[in-house]
Amino acid sequence: MDFSLSDKEQKMWERSKAFTYEHITPRAHELEKRDEFPKEVVQKAYEAGLMNLHIPTEAGGPGLSLVTETLVSEATGYGCAGIATSVMCNNLAFAPLVISATTEQLKEYVEPLITGKEAKFGAFCLTERTAGSDAAAVATKAERDGDEYLINGVKCFITNAPQASLFTVFASTQPELKHKGLSVFMVPKSRAVKIGLIEKKVGQLNSVQSEVIFEDVRVPRNCLVGKEGEGFKIAMMTLDKTRAGIAAIATGVAQRAVDEAGKFASVRHQFGQPIGRFQGISFKLAEMGARTFAARWMTRYSAWLADNDLPNSKDSSMAKFFAADAAMQNAIEAVQIMGGYGYIKEYPAEKLMRDAKLLQIYEGTNEVQRVVAGNAVIKESVNLDTGFHVKYDGRDAPLM
Ligand code: CAA
Repeated sequence: MDFSLSDKEQKMWERSKAFTYEHITPRAHELEKRDEFPKEVVQKAYEAGLMNLHIPTEAGGPGLSLVTETLVSEATGYGCAGIATSVMCNNLAFAPLVISATTEQLKEYVEPLITGKEAKFGAFCLTERTAGSDAAAVATKAERDGDEYLINGVKCFITNAPQASLFTVFASTQPELKHKGLSVFMVPKSRAVKIGLIEKKVGQLNSVQSEVIFEDVRVPRNCLVGKEGEGFKIAMMTLDKTRAGIAAIATGVAQRAVDEAGKFASVRHQFGQPIGRFQGISFKLAEMGARTFAARWMTRYSAWLADNDLPNSKDSSMAKFFAADAAMQNAIEAVQIMGGYGYIKEYPAEKLMRDAKLLQIYEGTNEVQRVVAGNAVIKESVNLDTGFHVKYDGRDAPLM
């Protein structure tokens, strides 16, 4: 068992930590007051080679591993979860295309967005007002009309949508088939895609979410990704990968909470000694550190599984909910340890708490992650021979 990073991964880890130290951490507070897309920092991240890491080399990308993506997300998440979300969102938007588009489609639609001087963006359009956790309930429709598809519907909470040049859209081509009738399309902004309401959030103010409106939007047939009816599976396969990315941002937030609270505990004196000398504080810090440690390795392992073409659905769901909960718990504890300073805006802890909350909600709520993980655990254990043979209620056959 070898936990070390490869040379390439180590370099990327160092580069993204240095980038965060210079460009994210010192500016995140000031930028979030603007409550807008942090264009300048994201452009710098693009120039530093921190975006679009998973695009294959045949389509102009660096073709790097999911582990590498998690390293960049953890490092940038340490500085600001909102900026990390803005930077990593192309990973989510383009993942369905990397999974199922042809090389020709990637070259035509994605390569021009990732090889120019300016950063360009994609947006992953799955969620709708009445299709959140129940992703199969998508009401957006795509109808074949000769050599084109006609798309109608409204998506909501779509990250980076106002900035996006290309939308990855999940729409129903055969609504009567429910999830088996869902398909996925690449829709260029130039096809008269409209941006609706821009949401006002509590945290992650350095990332932008909005409605996206498709009103008789026409796209050529070659904008269909994979085959008609494959959309739901492509969405699930995408999320299996990208949930590791959210877990990584969460690990960054959890670590930042440990570091800020630890620093405060060693500087702040009460009753004649640093408050970190009191077990009431040091035990909290120990648990915060342990949660972060576990979150980091769950995250990296779930990404490593995907990089090695091994199933990671259960593991990435577990990593996502564990790391997001760790970020939230750590941020709350950091606020508590820092007392009044924890609750005041010019200090770092309250922003961590506001930002962490969204990690438990987006890219599949933590409850959905527990559904995925719980089902997987039951499936694995139901026919397991534990060596202890006993009948429950007179039965040995499973009821599930
Ligand atoms: N890989 C491949 N196929 C999968 C799969 C996976 N991981 N998971 C399920 N499937 C397949 C199943 O095998 C099944 O196939 P068949 O029909 O051929 O048997 C099919 O998909 C349906 O599976 P389920 O019955 O399990 O599906 P469900 O309707 O019960 O839903 C769910 C399962 C896990 C709750 C799913 O709907 C889900 O993940 N919901 C959450 C959606 C989500 O994460 N939204 C976030 C949007 S992105 C966002 O927030 C981003 C942002 O802006 C930052």
